[in-house]
Amino acid sequence: MPSSPIQNKINSLRAQIEEHNYRYYVLDAPTISDEAYDQLFQELLRLEEEHPNLKSPLSPTQKVGGAPLDKFSKVRHTQPMLSLQNVYNPEEFLAFFERWQESLGDSFSILGEPKFDGLAVELIYKKGVLTLASTRGDGEVGEDVTANVKTIRSIPLHLRGTFPDTLEVRGEIILPKEDFKQLNLERSRLGEPLFANPRNAAAGSIRQLDPKVAAQRKLDFFPHGVAITSGLPIKTQSDLVNAFSSWGLRVHHFSKVLRTAREVESFFAEMENQRESLPFEIDGIVLKVNAFKDQNELGFVARSPRWAVAYKFKAQEGITTLIDVVFQVGRTGVITPVAVLDPVWVGGVEVKRAGLHNEDQIRELDLKRGDQVVVKRAGDVIPDVVSVITQKRTGKEKTITFPKKCPACESLLHRNAGEAAHRCLNMACPARLAEGIKHFCSKRAMNIEGLGDKWIDLLLAEKLITHFSSLYDLDKKELLTLDRQGDKSAQKLIDAIAKSKTTRLDRFIFALGIPLVGERTAELLATHFGSLDRFLNASEEELLRVEEIGPTVSLKIREFLEEKRNISEIKRLIQKGVDPQWESHSADHSQPLLGKTFVITGTLPTLSRDEAADLIRRHGGKVTGSVSKQTHFLVVGSEAGSKLDKAQSLGVPLLDERSLKALIEGDD
Ligand code: IVH
Repeated sequence: MPSSPIQNKINSLRAQIEEHNYRYYVLDAPTISDEAYDQLFQELLRLEEEHPNLKSPLSPTQKVGGAPLDKFSKVRHTQPMLSLQNVYNPEEFLAFFERWQESLGDSFSILGEPKFDGLAVELIYKKGVLTLASTRGDGEVGEDVTANVKTIRSIPLHLRGTFPDTLEVRGEIILPKEDFKQLNLERSRLGEPLFANPRNAAAGSIRQLDPKVAAQRKLDFFPHGVAITSGLPIKTQSDLVNAFSSWGLRVHHFSKVLRTAREVESFFAEMENQRESLPFEIDGIVLKVNAFKDQNELGFVARSPRWAVAYKFKAQEGITTLIDVVFQVGRTGVITPVAVLDPVWVGGVEVKRAGLHNEDQIRELDLKRGDQVVVKRAGDVIPDVVSVITQKRTGKEKTITFPKKCPACESLLHRNAGEAAHRCLNMACPARLAEGIKHFCSKRAMNIEGLGDKWIDLLLAEKLITHFSSLYDLDKKELLTLDRQGDKSAQKLIDAIAKSKTTRLDRFIFALGIPLVGERTAELLATHFGSLDRFLNASEEELLRVEEIGPTVSLKIREFLEEKRNISEIKRLIQKGVDPQWESHSADHSQPLLGKTFVITGTLPTLSRDEAADLIRRHGGKVTGSVSKQTHFLVVGSEAGSKLDKAQSLGVPLLDERSLKALIEGDD
């Protein structure tokens, strides 16, 4: 049947869009603008709507999700999907390695890879077309999740290049950390149960019956193997990585060929070091004997291959008893429940407390005093309670009730409709005051050196301070009455307080602790208004004109500025000599870095990272935490880690400290 002009047009759009998907999601190197891409996509959607007979399950429009399903059907894997044996320390790994040596002699190599913390799936391509995607299930039988898998942007619907007739790719579906955070934020806003970790979120998303929901979940996929290696024109696991890439699958650049147990140890250390800064979660490394011939020789034992092993990082999770839940009052009045735990070692750190977010989380976890709980450390933040081991209940556990009154000032707590947080609304609440003062003095706010939380608690307890401005009334004599205080350190503190009077407008605005006004917003406000007076007199209208500030934030700022007590406190600060200035951003000052996004990595020769970030922001640039296609420059110091690799793979230009300064001074 000759194809109609419409069919030809549709075919051409599909091919173009697939090509752009590949460039964007697999190569991380788009060649058209988002707008131009959207236009192509919308046009294809429109043509498919107008000509439903020309719709196709292999159209890139499937990436937004097809029709919902009633249930998932079962799929029997052609080859069982096995699991890996785990090792946890050098001795255990060495035992594995020596067994390899016994069978293979000394001339084998190993491919080291990250162990992705996601869920295993199999993708079957027939004649290059994605025909079936299934979960691992029990290893023999999984579920058909093709409709959801098709929505994953980096999974091609058609393979590229030359490929075998049938290809069964196995790999891991993951949800990047940042997308996991966003997803949970959104769910907490909507009052929906939170996912415990990215792995659960990825699994939950793939087991969604509505592919449109899965499509919104920013899932990603990394291939790590094939069901059958015989018949492939390649001989090693590391060639397979290149083959994946040639077939249009996304590969990461962390694989490394290793030859000795020592090299394995340093790869392990390298990956463990990078773990926190990677955009996705990994829980160890996987080591695979590289040559397929050697793999076949080693074969399998029970449900695991003998030719591969997972070398796991130290557990970031631990199990312990929940002794109590205490309720802390934050500076904005939000009440945060904190779990008090029987101390437990998790990933090399003793954990005594863990975060619980809010009342909903306590309810969702069905947490009771005395429960055995799983705590997890994620990054350097305080650990989270992720689940309760209900099987271990004895019946003696006690229900936890969220307080009705503020634990510090006893005023009634409020919960706004649609918000998960309970708040103390009393501006004079001593706990809020203490947190507010700690924030005011902190490094990124007024930066009063030496005046840490312990000091502030002591000064408050002794009634030597009561609010921000009273800090500037402190004198040395008063400080000396505190028994642990020597003359020299008292003087140092007084000097540091005096020094903080000369400050920048953005820091001052941030220090005030206006709800929803973080560092970035404070900076935008300072840039826009240029002086404290103009900021204090800002109308609603004017506030809405500030870049990136919407109605919610502007309302919070208005509320803050309309409160008489706040204005008198600001006036008192000014009277005592606090003098926030904003010269570098005055209208005639050029902003050489305007519109440019920077990421900083490694140790710079003279500037700390905070200082470098400050410098960039003051000259109009933006600083973010991770390298992406949107990054304009990576500022690199010594001992740079994975950010450097990522920047290089994306072709992001690099700057050292000197060239950053040169860029600012405009003489590069
Ligand atoms: S190779 C025989 N490589 O870990 C299985 N697996 O316990 C060979 N995994 O279900 C798997 N990252 O889903 C391999 N780089 C990696 C991996 C990886 C994560 C998962 C995989 C498997 C589980 C094994």
